[in-house]
This record gives sequence, C-alpha cells and structure tokens, in this order.
Amino acid sequence: MAKLLEALLELPHVRIKDPDYMLSVFEEIIEGNSEKLQVISDFDQTLTKDHENGERCLTTFGIFHSTPQLPKGYNARSEALYHKYHPFEVHPELTVEQKTPYMEQWYKDSEQLLFGAEVSKEELKGHIYSSKTCFRDGSVEIFNALKKAEVPVLVFSAGVGDVVHHALEKHEMLLDNVRIISNFLNWNDQGTLEGFQGDMIHVFNKNQRALAAHEEYFSLLAHRPNVILLGDNEGDAAMGHGVQDPKAMIKIGFLFHHPEQRLEKFMDMFDIVLIDDQTMDVPKKILHHILGAHHFD
Ligand code: TMP
Ligand code: MG
Repeated sequence: MAKLLEALLELPHVRIKDPDYMLSVFEEIIEGNSEKLQVISDFDQTLTKDHENGERCLTTFGIFHSTPQLPKGYNARSEALYHKYHPFEVHPELTVEQKTPYMEQWYKDSEQLLFGAEVSKEELKGHIYSSKTCFRDGSVEIFNALKKAEVPVLVFSAGVGDVVHHALEKHEMLLDNVRIISNFLNWNDQGTLEGFQGDMIHVFNKNQRALAAHEEYFSLLAHRPNVILLGDNEGDAAMGHGVQDPKAMIKIGFLFHHPEQRLEKFMDMFDIVLIDDQTMDVPKKILHHILGAHHFD
C-alpha cells in the first residue's frame, strides 16, 4: 500500500492531505476487506465527467431539461438558470454558508419550471437512453468490480433521480448492490409533473438531515464501517455523515473549476484531491488494491 501511495503522490494532479494518516486508513480498510466496506458516490461530475473534448457534459438536470417533449423554451430557461446559479456553486471565495441560499433558490426555480409539464415516464426513459451520458472511463468497471465483491454502493445525488436511475441502467450499472438517493420526479394521476417527491436534496444539504430519512439503509450496513467516498464539491464531503460508527474513511474529491483558489478548501474536506482528472483511474487503482485484481477481470 505504501508503494501505491508513493506512486499516487508522484502524479502531478494528485494531492494527498496527510500521507501517513492515509496509509494507516488504507491498511485498516485492507484489513477489513470487502466485507467491511461500503462506497458512497455523488453522480454528476463524479461518476460522470465535467467536460469531454472541450465541451461541457450535461448534468442529470441538463439531460432532463432537454427532453424534447417538454414545453418550448423550457431548455433555454433552465440553461439561463444554470448560468445564473452554477457560478455560485463553484465560486472560489464564498463559503458554503454563503453559497447555500443561492443553491436553495436554484433548486426552487428549477422545480418551479417543471410544474405542469407533460412528459411521460416512457418518453423520459427513451430520451435518457438516446442522450450522451458521459460516464468517466472506469466508472462501469468499478461498479462491476464492486458488484463482484458484493460491496454496497450508494449513489447520492442532488440531480434528478429518474435520470440517475436510467443512466445507470443504460450502462448496466444499476446492479443489486446499488442504491440511489436523489430527487425523484413526482407525476400526478394525469401524467403531469408536480415537482419532486419529498424534500429537495441540493448540493450543500447532503448531510445528516437529508440522510435521516435513510437511516434504515445505514443501519443495515452497520457492519460495514469502512467507506470510500467520491465527490466533486464541498457538499459531497458530508455524504458519509449517515454511516454508523465509521472507522476508516477515504474521501476522494474531483476538483475542476477554479482549482488554484479552491484547492485549500478541498484539501480541508477531502483526503485525496484530483485536479482536472476526468477519469476514474485513481479510485480504480485504490479499489484494485483493496478488492484484489480478480474482481476487475
Ligand atoms: P450531483 O449531486 O449528482 O452532483 O447533482 C447536482 C448537480 O446538478 C449540481 O452540480 C448542480 C446541477 N444542477 C443543474 O445542472 N441544473 C439545475 O437546474 C440544478 C437545480 C442543478
Ligand atoms: Mg456532483
């Protein structure tokens, strides 16, 4: 494991907060083997890329909003919301407390847009299947390995749950060890959309409160105190708060927007920070070590 850490540290885009501490966490996770492990991952820009060939990859909201059956002008309005609020999400100087009201407003505005929209579940599924879903190279492989090793995976997303579901299903990643917590669409009996089900999960409330409704999931996994967590913004670092009596946790953060200014904050919140890495190479190397090569065959 020390060799792997050394090799990771040599990569120019990899930052490790405290290599000695990391080594002891790795050793503890390896000792606990796959039986004591669970994985928690964000979806947009974590399992998927931020950009590909110079173009922005759509988020699950972006995919949903471009559904052709939605009213005319809908996509343009949601794009306008994206350009208004996304800069706050990745703002290099504002604190999470300062950013949160903007995120709450973004999610309210976005939900408001979809009230009364007439799009069927089948139409939406068809659209997701024909859309570009932009998974990182290695995401599918990791999911297959985690299934082989019977390690539970929680995909915790402040995106659109139905899009997360079908995007995973499309790539045969929705295996029976995978569970999704997200914002699922709420259809009324007439097939019209009425916002989202339950409380909205936004990018900075992925914490104890949002997880309180899912206590049962974490109590079923109480015998798995070791965690690998993957995320791409400050709020994602809190996704492990629902884990019961966590023992060894490795938080891996993908950093793309304003990397120089945000690196310090990311280093405070994550154990390993990957700067503009659009692959799953580093998490794959780590899991390869923990689960064993045979799970990746
Ligand atoms: P995530 O939690 O899976 O990363 O998904 C949330 C992402 O979705 C986050 O980066 C903000 C983004 N988003 C949009 O792209 N459009 C929207 O309308 C909203 C509300 C969020
Ligand atoms: Mg994300």
